[in-house]
Amino acid sequence: MQVAVYPGSFDPCTNGHLDIISRASRLFEKVVVAVLINDKKHPAFTLEERVEMLKAATCHLSNVEIISFSGLLADFMRQHGYSVIVKGLRAVSDFEYEFQMALTNQALNDKIETVFIPSSSEFMFLSSSIVKEVAKYNGDLSALVPKELVPKIMNRFGKEK
Ligand code: COA
Repeated sequence: MQVAVYPGSFDPCTNGHLDIISRASRLFEKVVVAVLINDKKHPAFTLEERVEMLKAATCHLSNVEIISFSGLLADFMRQHGYSVIVKGLRAVSDFEYEFQMALTNQALNDKIETVFIPSSSEFMFLSSSIVKEVAKYNGDLSALVPKELVPKIMNRFGKEK
């Protein structure tokens, strides 16, 4: 079975992530969304919350599985016998970092191939940080995140919506 692993911190999941997940789910037999710890970040949502939010946002996609993992992505891939990583590319500015990650993962595990999917144009500006910034100031999240996640995100920042 051709499986793609889509890793990220998803703090929180956005419509941009969902765009990549749903398009990958049409290209691969199964998509494993791996919620990983990024040591450089201090998440607003726990690992369990991020997994739950992704499950709610992808429940209509039958070949998508959500898991969490700590450690090196290359080790996770080896442990499960997976070889394809999917990443979204929003702009040229993403490329340098993503290229470095792809080469690092391949150096750690030479079976890994990284496949880049270009972001849909309407989500090019989007990031998890942008979502948190808008929520902090009680802005409208309806175009930025899956609708079922709006109350949870607003509540985290002390706003009822
Ligand atoms: N739409 C919207 N936003 C997107 C997006 C898309 N298609 N693609 C990326 N983003 C956003 C993310 O939400 C994130 O936003 P933020 O910085 O505001 O949180 C930002 O773009 C960067 O995304 P990404 O580069 O995927 O970083 P990440 O923190 O989500 O995930 C890991 C990085 C977890 C995949 C990476 O750190 C990792 O693999 N860690 C495990 C340890 C390891 O193996 N390291 C590599 C060897 S050193």
